Amino acid sequence: MSEPPVVRTVNLVKIYQNGGVPVPAVRGVDLVVEPGQFVAITGPSGSGKSTLVHMLGGLDPRTSGEIWLDGKRADTMSESAWALLRRRKIGFVFQFFNLVANMTVADNVELPALLAGASARDARERREHLLGALGLTGRADASPAQLAGGEQQRVALARALSNKPSLLLADEPTGNLDSRNTRDVLRLLGEVHRDGQTIVLVTHDARVASMADRVVTLLDGEIVDDGALGTARRRPRGTAGDVVELRG
Ligand SMILES: Nc1ncnc2c1ncn2[C@@H]1O[C@H](COP(=O)(O)OP(=O)(O)OP(=O)(O)O)[C@@H](O)[C@H]1O
Ligand SMILES: [Mg+2]
Repeated sequence: MSEPPVVRTVNLVKIYQNGGVPVPAVRGVDLVVEPGQFVAITGPSGSGKSTLVHMLGGLDPRTSGEIWLDGKRADTMSESAWALLRRRKIGFVFQFFNLVANMTVADNVELPALLAGASARDARERREHLLGALGLTGRADASPAQLAGGEQQRVALARALSNKPSLLLADEPTGNLDSRNTRDVLRLLGEVHRDGQTIVLVTHDARVASMADRVVTLLDGEIVDDGALGTARRRPRGTAGDVVELRG
């Protein structure tokens, strides 16, 4: 039997209420992500990218539709079941980092590994590897408030990878980074991808998207393009069967 998709959504919808006015943010997304796939999500500001990945991580409840993770129905789970799933399987990099303010960088990065059951020694080794890979070794004892925005962002990525999540969800993980730090992040994402971890990542950065197996474009809360870079592109809304075209 083949493995179930890591992520599958069925007609996923999110409508926010803004002072009684409905704001449709995600409008019927069907997305299937296979194990080990690296999917980049792009699209203009306000197209629903953050809303989509937040729903996939259980951080924002859906309005309607279904979310399946590793073949299990997830959108009907309780808060505590989501929390457990995130602890064990999902790493999340938010657009605004969300580091624990009164903990050092080292502790911020080790915490998810410890919560997932790693030994103190394994958590420390993992932290040293991740901070080293991201050029942050010298910042281990700093507190998040002492860091520049780009440093906080890299610490957030290290934290998200600390429990070796089978699914990494990341929202603009290179948004504030200069080219050298972006290169470090890309190298680490490449390592994660080679290790077989699944990545779903929101990005505006063409260099990041070019590393992905597949680029999904959102517009006004809908998928308008979905294809592997440089190979075949499949339009899910083709009329007569699947429309497959070649992209140069
Ligand atoms: N908490 C909220 N309450 C009301 N409306 C919201 C909320 N969060 C997002 N929205 C709206 O939902 C839509 C999608 O927002 P979202 O943040 O998902 O877009 P995005 O693609 O991530 O944009 P960006 O590239 O700027 O990060 C927008 O119209 C936004 O204004
Ligand atoms: Mg966003």
